[in-house]
This record gives sequence, structure tokens and C-alpha cells, in this order.
Amino acid sequence: MEQKKIIIDTDPGHDDAIAILLALASPELDVLGVTCVAGNVPLHHTARNALLICELANRPDVKVFAGCDRPMVRKLVTAEAIHGETGLDGPKWEQPKIELQEQHAVDWLIETLMEADDGEITLCPVGPLTNISMALVREPQIATKVDQIVSMGGGYFVGGNVTPAAEFNIYVDPHAADVVYRSGIPIVAMPLDVTHKALMTEEWIQSLQDLGTEVGTKSSQLLSFYNRFDLERYGMAGSPVHDPATIAYLINPDLYTGKDVYVEIETRSSLTMGMTVVDYWGARRKDPNCLWVSAVDDTGFFELMYERLSTL
Ligand code: RIB
Ligand code: CA
Repeated sequence: MEQKKIIIDTDPGHDDAIAILLALASPELDVLGVTCVAGNVPLHHTARNALLICELANRPDVKVFAGCDRPMVRKLVTAEAIHGETGLDGPKWEQPKIELQEQHAVDWLIETLMEADDGEITLCPVGPLTNISMALVREPQIATKVDQIVSMGGGYFVGGNVTPAAEFNIYVDPHAADVVYRSGIPIVAMPLDVTHKALMTEEWIQSLQDLGTEVGTKSSQLLSFYNRFDLERYGMAGSPVHDPATIAYLINPDLYTGKDVYVEIETRSSLTMGMTVVDYWGARRKDPNCLWVSAVDDTGFFELMYERLSTL
């Protein structure tokens, strides 16, 4: 089987952690590196958390890079209320033994992409798009090297989760999202429209605990901590575990259904800043720039995650 070369850009974050574990547990994917960005928590935490997750997956070989510590224009907004002070609250963590790479994530992204063949690498951003955008601004030629961007972010039919209009990853750095959505690189968006249709249950979280492995136990502790916020806030039957949707799509795209649409990012209005304005019915007559995913086989999604996490 030919492995798909991917780079995960991330702000761990509980759901980011599950996405990274799922990717590292999947032989279909060759994770070239993990680039970290400020988002759920400040960069020093997201970078440390990425090291902890690679260590948990027993993958000290994975290169982890620290990237941008703030959005391109706006002031950083974080989400400790959901992810805790460290960004991975819940389990007890030791200090990571593996270390960050010296190189800045944006420099490594540019260097790696420029050395690649056209369309060779898939980018999987699951946090604010600052690193990806800065790489595109610094070296626009990298666009031809990217096969597709499979990104967790945005919301349309379900609105936002930070404001009524905006989802967190886009809201934190709307200017970066604007650069990415105008880049011409094919985008597969995993917005709240689809992630809110795959809700974790206490039983599923317990099934991870019952694996009796370090990965199962820590994943269960992470998700129990993470679950409480959405239960309290939305009164949902369970939490949407957003970021792994990007990885599950790469492993088995048949789990998902979407529509090719034109998406623009609001970067001016204070009321709707960071909104993904989706031209779902083609009113603008613009060529699509994105596959907007809005349906998922949720049973298949959780079965895939369980099956892969149980191999670590
Ligand atoms: O809105 C959900 C997204 O914001 C997820 O990527 C979560 O980790 C946070 O980054
Ligand atoms: Ca994230």
C-alpha cells in the first residue's frame, strides 16, 4: 500500500491529541512531521503537548516543530475553559523526554514542501491556520506541492462555537484562513456541520479505558475531561470530537459526504469576524474552492478510531 504523506498542523488540545494518535496508528499515512501553533492554549503548551502525544504513541521518531505563537493580525484567543490550563488536562503527564526540533515550523514546512514533488504532500491543519498561511505568504510556490488541505474548521448550517457566526480555528486567525481559502489549493473542510454529527458517548470513552493500555487509559482520561464542557454547554448527548475527522477522512473518505462550494472568510465585520461564508447554492457563480463536508457515518467513525487506537 502506498502511504499518503501528511503533515499535521495542530494546537493540542484534547481532540488534536486523538487525531495525532489516530494518524500514528494508521499504516495508510506517513506522518512527515507535526507542526504546532498557538490556539487552544499558548504555543509553549501546544508544542509540549504534541511531544507528549508522540511519546504516548511510542513514536519518538516523529519530528515536532513549534510555529507561530500568535495569529497574523489579531490578538491570540485561547480555550483553557475547554482544554484546561495545559491544554491536555485530565491525565497526569510527566515532562516529555523527546525534544522539539530547532527549526521554526514555518521554515520546515517551506523547506519540506519545496523539496517535494508536485501534489506529493497533504496538509492536515486542525488548529488556527497561522503556520500554513505564513508559509504560503513566505513561499507561494509551495501551493503546487500540496495535494490537498484537509482542515478542521468553520461552520455554516450550525453556525459557530465561539460566536454565533464563527468556529474557533477560523475565529482565532481569520486572516490566515482567508489566505488559505484563496490559495487555490484543493481544500476538504471538516466544519462543525459534520463534527457535531459524531458525538462521543460515555460508553465509547469507557471502551478505550477497557483496552487496558497506556494509550487507552490516557485517551479515556483526556476525553472524560473534554466531554464535560459540551455536555454542560450544549446539553448534548456527548461531545463532538472534532479534529480526528480530518484523519478519518484520509483513511476512509467513504465515511463522509460533502458538496463542492465556494467559501469566503469574514475578516472585517466585528459581528461576524471569522465566519466561513459558504455559497452553498452557488449564488455567487464562483468556482468552488472547497469540499464542504456535512455528513458522516458516525458509527463507522468511532469504530475506526477504536480499532486503530487499540493497536497502539
Ligand atoms: O472548534 C473546534 C476546533 O477548535 C478544534 O480543532 C479544537 O481543537 C479547537 O482547536
Ligand atoms: Ca485543534
